[in-house]
Amino acid sequence: MPDQLNVCLIAARGRNNVIGNEGDLPWRLKDDLAFFKKVTMGCPILMGRKTWESLPFRPLKGRENIVMTRDWTYNAPGARVYSSFPAAINAARAIATRQGAGCVFVIGGATIYDLALPYVDTIYMTEVDASPEGDVFFPQLAPDEWKTETMASHEAGDGNDHRFSIVKMQREPAFVTRR
Ligand SMILES: NC(=O)c1ccc[n+]([C@@H]2O[C@H](COP(=O)([O-])OP(=O)(O)OC[C@H]3O[C@@H](n4cnc5c(N)ncnc54)[C@H](OP(=O)(O)O)[C@@H]3O)[C@@H](O)[C@H]2O)c1
Repeated sequence: MPDQLNVCLIAARGRNNVIGNEGDLPWRLKDDLAFFKKVTMGCPILMGRKTWESLPFRPLKGRENIVMTRDWTYNAPGARVYSSFPAAINAARAIATRQGAGCVFVIGGATIYDLALPYVDTIYMTEVDASPEGDVFFPQLAPDEWKTETMASHEAGDGNDHRFSIVKMQREPAFVTRR
């Protein structure tokens, strides 16, 4: 069992902070999807109802899918449904602990990122070198709170619409509050 369970957030944002457009991603980034799959595999993933409905295949395999909605009657086959964020994150933590996963992943969209940020230890952020049109934005981060390290860089082409970097952001110890 892991010593400590991390709450991780994974997202891809443009230079203008756009993360979504008309219920979908504003780009196709093949290598980023591969990274997403690799890093989240085996861990519970927590998402909003709109992100769930945007997935091309539901549920995402090899991961416990947890969906947030205010609709108590909502049916998400293959996923667990919660209407309160603390209940959802606690369920995700319990599942991760039971399954021996080191992380719970918050995978979006913007409303769930907003709710989750106070709980998050680590962010895997794909910084997309583009400013596409969009209607959903990543919340502002306080730069002082996060130590950033670049993990990988990819050029455009071969299934990637744009150039992008994947960075790992760790919350600075002075700003850690266990919730
Ligand atoms: N670039 C990225 O990394 C990334 C990642 C994920 C998603 N996206 C994009 O982001 C967009 C979707 O994001 P979004 O912010 O519009 O929607 P979302 O966060 O995926 O889902 C919003 C829904 O979650 C439920 N919800 C929100 N707050 C809640 C609360 N406090 N309690 C209970 N349920 C709650 C509500 O569902 P009900 O309406 O059913 O009550 C709400 O409509 C799409 O375009 C998607 O492609 C991008």
